[in-house]
Amino acid sequence: MKKISRRQFLAGAGMVLAANRLPQSWGKSPQVTLPIPKLLDGSQGTPIDLQIRSGTWSFKPGIKTPTLGFSQDYLGPTIRTRQNSELNLHYQNSWLENVAVHGHGLHVPGIVDGGPQLEIAPGDRWKPSLSIVQQAATCWYHSHTHGKTGEQVYRGLAGMIIIDDENSDSLNLPSRYGIDDLPIIIQDRTFDSEGELVYSLHDAHEDGWLGKTVVINGAISPVAKVPAGKVRLRLLNGANARFYIVQFSDNRTFYKIATDGGLLPAPVALTSMEMSPGERCEIIVDLEDVNPASLLTLFEDEFEDEEGLVENVLSLFNQTGTPLPEPSLTLIPDSSLSAHTEPLPQKLNSITRPSENEITVTRDFMLSMESEGGGHGHGEMEMMINGAVMNMNVINERVKKGIWERWRIRSDVGAHPFHVHGCSFLIEQMEGADTPVDQQGWKDMVVADDDDWATILVRFEHEATEKYPYMYHCHILEHEDLGMMGQFTVV
Ligand code: C2O
Ligand code: CU
Ligand code: CU
Repeated sequence: MKKISRRQFLAGAGMVLAANRLPQSWGKSPQVTLPIPKLLDGSQGTPIDLQIRSGTWSFKPGIKTPTLGFSQDYLGPTIRTRQNSELNLHYQNSWLENVAVHGHGLHVPGIVDGGPQLEIAPGDRWKPSLSIVQQAATCWYHSHTHGKTGEQVYRGLAGMIIIDDENSDSLNLPSRYGIDDLPIIIQDRTFDSEGELVYSLHDAHEDGWLGKTVVINGAISPVAKVPAGKVRLRLLNGANARFYIVQFSDNRTFYKIATDGGLLPAPVALTSMEMSPGERCEIIVDLEDVNPASLLTLFEDEFEDEEGLVENVLSLFNQTGTPLPEPSLTLIPDSSLSAHTEPLPQKLNSITRPSENEITVTRDFMLSMESEGGGHGHGEMEMMINGAVMNMNVINERVKKGIWERWRIRSDVGAHPFHVHGCSFLIEQMEGADTPVDQQGWKDMVVADDDDWATILVRFEHEATEKYPYMYHCHILEHEDLGMMGQFTVV
């Protein structure tokens, strides 16, 4: 996948890394513990209060940064729910701006989807009741306010949603929240000398707002004590614009078990994987050997040459003599904790693909960026899908409920993480090639590139009306805010 501008790691490796990977000007800090957002059980229908509010959060010990959160200073609680249950969310906007909150990955009707038509004014409440019909998955909720999504997510308006089902219960996967089943929200942030978050939609790079420092659940290079066995990480790329390469510093094998919308058919062994903004991957890492595991989240744009991503990123560090970057997260096994040591199940899920004669509609989506007057900042860029900038008064597509469709997505320049509301889909092709085995699960994110079509097979089971349509958009939040988004109904 090609980012819009490539940074040529091979040419200037040492300098790029030194500048980007150390927490800016803060130097080496004492190690902090991975913050684990509070877990709220929504599976019994008990209302979950989510107060949108400002706060202060210490990304760095001793420095207080003004932030936003849901009932906490930064980010929000993890909400746990189940297939065939009602999830009742009670939002209260105690902040100064309108906020819409979307349930990313949820299969719910447009009226409770939380798109920009559903903004909550300061002082107001919104109480959507969500019938959870979909299978076990890791989803998330985040601001979706018209033109303000990037800034509000950046300041903290995001949280995780975990859905369980009978299949996931029966599989004997690590599932003790905060112990061997960890929510891992990966973001990057830029701080000024006072420790305040720096953000400007207008000054964003054409790739979107790229933060300089990686934060995991709001902490810089935290450590987590875990049992000396199998540990499940629910990775969410919650960055505004970064694509990450995720791997361990010792190049150890891990197993990917789930994509955005559910478990994969079987675990897939990997040593490295890419994650686009908005994407979720559940992985299992084994710490039975009692060695600490250091998770790296490398900035993908630093490892690209003219052909795209370089093959073995870790070997580049050796070749160039560059020290490995600081881990984004270190897992430290503690053999006094009871560990999950049973082997991984061979079969996790069954996924049935539609046959060709079931696919009756094809739609094309062309993502484009046009600069007016040759400027480089976003202020001068027009972000479009099929030649149109997002307009709240225009329905771009009308879809029939319950019908399989083939959507073909492509861009005129660079890689864009394309997201569709209200569904999970299957990827048929990426960059003109067959879907890699670790992407053959249910998805709601697919990368659209400029050299060939990505194609997905999608079917919608819920209604989205003209008043409360669904969205499809680029999940680089600055592209979304600048118009790379469209609306569609399902009837
Ligand atoms: Cu995660 Cu329309 O967004
Ligand atoms: Cu979404
Ligand atoms: Cu984009």
